[in-house]
Amino acid sequence: MTHNRIRNFSIIAHIDHGKSTISDRLLEKTGLMNNRNKKEQALDSLAIERERGITVKSALVSLNYRAQNGNDYLLNLIDTPGHVDFSYEVSRSLAACEGAILVVDATQGIEAQTIANFYKALEEDLTILPVVNKIDLPAADVPRVSQEITKEFGLDAEDVMAISAKSGIGIDELLEKIVHHIPAPKINEENSPQQNLKALIFDSFFDTFRGVIILVRIFSGKISVGDKVKFFHEQETFVVEELGFLEMEKNQKTTLNFGEVGYVILGIKQLAKVKIGDTLTSSPAPCLQPLQGYQEIKPMVFAGVYPVNTENFNDLKSSLEKLKLNDSSLQFEKENSSALGFGFRCGFLGVLHMEIFQERLSNEFNTSIILTVPSVKYKIYLNHNPQKAIFIDNPDKFPRLNDVFKMEEPFIKANIILPDTYLGNVMKLVQEKRGMQKNLNYLSTNRVELHFEIPLAEIVFDFYDKLKSVTKGYASLDYEIIDYRSADIVKVDILVNKEVVDALSFISHKTKARERSKVVLDKLKDEIPKHMFAIALQAAVGSTIIARETISALRKDVTAKCYGGDISRKRKLLEKQKEGKKKMRSFGKVEIPQQAFISFLKKS
Ligand code: GTP
Repeated sequence: MTHNRIRNFSIIAHIDHGKSTISDRLLEKTGLMNNRNKKEQALDSLAIERERGITVKSALVSLNYRAQNGNDYLLNLIDTPGHVDFSYEVSRSLAACEGAILVVDATQGIEAQTIANFYKALEEDLTILPVVNKIDLPAADVPRVSQEITKEFGLDAEDVMAISAKSGIGIDELLEKIVHHIPAPKINEENSPQQNLKALIFDSFFDTFRGVIILVRIFSGKISVGDKVKFFHEQETFVVEELGFLEMEKNQKTTLNFGEVGYVILGIKQLAKVKIGDTLTSSPAPCLQPLQGYQEIKPMVFAGVYPVNTENFNDLKSSLEKLKLNDSSLQFEKENSSALGFGFRCGFLGVLHMEIFQERLSNEFNTSIILTVPSVKYKIYLNHNPQKAIFIDNPDKFPRLNDVFKMEEPFIKANIILPDTYLGNVMKLVQEKRGMQKNLNYLSTNRVELHFEIPLAEIVFDFYDKLKSVTKGYASLDYEIIDYRSADIVKVDILVNKEVVDALSFISHKTKARERSKVVLDKLKDEIPKHMFAIALQAAVGSTIIARETISALRKDVTAKCYGGDISRKRKLLEKQKEGKKKMRSFGKVEIPQQAFISFLKKS
């Protein structure tokens, strides 16, 4: 396809505003999806995406479209996730495009992720097509939402398209608008069809038979089957085994030309060789400069990941490597715990990312894991070297308080959009969570945007759930990390039967330590089965016990058999039982079932 008939674009929106449904309609209109292969949210291919109805991975699909002017176009659509934890996926997708369809729900209006994604598209200098979706719903208010778009983004109200992805209203017009308003791939001094190959690797996944499959956007030159290629910063040469477009299924081609987007198979089996954001170029004739690539993403939430069965450590390792290929924001390194054996310390972009990670491991790799309590990364200055900070995200590595000069925790700048009726509730919640309000701005007569600064650790715990419950689900949240601020932090150990269970320790702000410990012990009490002896559950900061619970003993009725008879005989039996129990308490090992860890994690 000649490059001026190619349109590369993304669909961006807040979660659930209808991106995947719009993609479905575009797939149908261009004939890629028909009655035979029809399914809803066709681009959400991961089991977890279909189960939960959310997109967590960007997806690529190439569509052939004959416009009303009779010309054929190649439309490369990249569907993107809407949740804040996956915004990294959005940035990566946008870097491969010239345009973005910005979707806003006609019943809800602009939400936090709409704003965040709009600015990402603007940074990439993309042409933005604003679309108000779900106009079929009785509660749709197109004039209000269009006005919000104009006010917040400075886009022209006349350019806002009103559509319904569900009933198909406005989809033909949208296709025409894509073709006529989104620019073709740009030719400039650095990038053109005549220059050496320069392809951006924007995604990859693993195929058991073919090895690593990489998704590329060709920014310069072209790539053909049989070509010798290499990654810009490496020397090793690979031969292109197969390439083509992704049209729901792979559609093999012999060449990917300038401006096109598609898959490439190089026969790579070692996963670590492929890096997202890298530039693929010709080996005999490499390009002079690599593409800009992506900023290294920094995880914000950390947790220990252990195989349920300690023998499965190697399986877990290989699953993590494969998952990393498809989720480049995942970070992990080896660690061990006396309670759980060998495992990994993993870094995630947020709590939802962590949950999705756990479910993907289980669904796609059949790997069950135990996750320890999530933590953020603290900055700690020690007495012996107060100039230099160390970063700690693992309770196991937390220093003794006596050795600490000062401690700091990460703060975020958060942005909540909500109906103003809930403003009081949200402000109270923000205050409870140690947040500070910075700004308040009315988007329309009854919807406000609230800016505040708050410790990240508070968001990691139960902020989302609480926000949802105090606003009946009507608030949306977006945030970014801003700096580190001084904080009083402690490590809380959980002792079961006087023994510290390292996998249950957590780091907490001092003022929250007791409250959180109580919740944890309460939950553990429900989860650990009764033993023949009483079990003490304690939470301690250093040697100070700050909370305590007891699981009472299972009392076996040793006197059941002696009906009637002498009281002294009964007493003797009870004495004997007491003696036995003492032994069990001191020698017996308390079994903590896996479920206790899982519930513990959820609750805490
Ligand atoms: P994430 O992938 O989770 O970010 O969501 P999304 O933006 O892809 O939204 P999705 O397409 O999954 O739609 C969310 C819900 O809105 C689904 O239940 C859709 O059926 C519904 N929906 C989407 N478009 C329309 C529409 O035009 N009208 C109505 N009534 N419902 C719609």
